[in-house]
Amino acid sequence: MTSPPSLPLPQDPAEPRHWHQIAHAPAPGAVLGQRNTLPDGSATLHELASGSDTASAPGAVFRYLLLRSGSGVLAFVNRCAHFGVPLAARQDLLQFVPHKRITCNVHYAHYRWSDGLCTSGDCEGESLLPIPVVVEADGTVRVAS
Ligand code: FES
Repeated sequence: MTSPPSLPLPQDPAEPRHWHQIAHAPAPGAVLGQRNTLPDGSATLHELASGSDTASAPGAVFRYLLLRSGSGVLAFVNRCAHFGVPLAARQDLLQFVPHKRITCNVHYAHYRWSDGLCTSGDCEGESLLPIPVVVEADGTVRVAS
């Protein structure tokens, strides 16, 4: 495998720094998934069409990742810190090492599983945007209030 040439880091100060700054972000309390549908060690792609502004933008979706480790579930916006594009457009293209890392399939930046920090690649030192979640007793994963 060959890597594409290195590209400059985006310098736009308007780059989002928090998940709720992303277009079509869901409201606190929104359901993101069910833990019992996520195999341990899985990283899965999801979309939500129930963001607060989808009425003004029909068809718009919010893309995110769910990572399961044991009883815990982490959520991140599916948006590479390098160019602001999805890490993968389809589930079968998502590259990850269970409980260890996720890899962007555009320029192969590596993100640490536990906190989304980019540990190598063109956006090293930046992070995926974490979404705070709560996992309820029945396994429902919701955006934290
Ligand atoms: S878009 Fe370049 S590493 Fe993800």
